[in-house]
Amino acid sequence: MAAGDGRVAGCRVVVTGAAGRLGRAMCAEFGRDASVVALTRTDLDITDGRAVGARLAAERPDIIVNCAGDNDVDLAEGRPVRALEVNAFAVKALARAADEAGAALVHFSSDFVFDGEASRPYTEADEPNPRSVYAASKLLGEWFALEARRSFVLRVESLFGPAGAGRVGSLDRIVEGIRAGAPVPVFVDRTVSPAYVADVAWATRRLIEGAAPGGLYHCVNAGAATWREIALEIARLLGREPRLTPITMDQAALRASRPRYSALDISKLGAAGVVMPGWQTALARYLGSDPEKRGQAETLEA
Ligand SMILES: NC(=O)c1ccc[n+]([C@@H]2O[C@H](COP(=O)([O-])OP(=O)(O)OC[C@H]3O[C@@H](n4cnc5c(N)ncnc54)[C@H](OP(=O)(O)O)[C@@H]3O)[C@@H](O)[C@H]2O)c1
Repeated sequence: MAAGDGRVAGCRVVVTGAAGRLGRAMCAEFGRDASVVALTRTDLDITDGRAVGARLAAERPDIIVNCAGDNDVDLAEGRPVRALEVNAFAVKALARAADEAGAALVHFSSDFVFDGEASRPYTEADEPNPRSVYAASKLLGEWFALEARRSFVLRVESLFGPAGAGRVGSLDRIVEGIRAGAPVPVFVDRTVSPAYVADVAWATRRLIEGAAPGGLYHCVNAGAATWREIALEIARLLGREPRLTPITMDQAALRASRPRYSALDISKLGAAGVVMPGWQTALARYLGSDPEKRGQAETLEA
């Protein structure tokens, strides 16, 4: 089957970083009717260029979905080489392997490529201005992924959904705190467009199925909010009275700089026929889903 002909059903899909939050969602979504090869870091370390070439040549994929990433933004400041290896140079190897296999490459980048000084949602045409090691490594990864003959680079942010073992995301920390009746610190000055992994996986599939042109797309749930506003919506959905401690990013004194304003414009994705639901309905679906079923493919609301 030729890569990029718009079909997913029956394709052979390799997912790297398959044990992570997004990787698990991708495996569930594509696993509905494609043949998924789920590769965790133990199965394939994407920084091992030789292993990447050999494994992908052997798997003969139609589509490669790279969900692996070195995502500890603060730690990356102290170990830039690892961030560059995983988030950038490994992507170059994946792009080369995708071309050799005749496969389409899907790769995920981040809102952090922007400096956060904007006052309206960022579009794909806006100039990146990374302000941390992690952010620079993600921008390089975008460029390398786009070198592949057919590639999609999807910028996501503030992902939420069932995490892999031992990992808790920002949103789940808020959910746990509110459920426990504990004080929950929340940023009042960081605005994000959260993205539900089940919706990102659905959108990824739709983008490929719709035979959209390759390139760079913003892929988040519609809308934007501060973390305080997100916490208030979580509390409302859980029916709890939250104990929120408003903090600013300056007060938190984080090692790596974060963009204050990270709302992403998703009209390019919409023009390709992929209309993302709002973050509030995505959150309601996530929090309302049976924990046993979280991570399995979900049908989007109309
Ligand atoms: N989470 C967010 O809010 C967010 C925001 C913007 C962009 N993104 C991007 O979205 C993508 C997925 O993120 P996520 O939240 O799903 O991350 P995650 O839950 O941390 O999963 C990342 C996975 O990558 C694996 N990995 C790390 N280094 C690897 C290597 N050298 N070879 C193979 N696998 C490796 C990790 O394995 P180990 O567990 O063994 O380390 C982990 O399973 C990444 O590209 C990330 O940069 C995420």
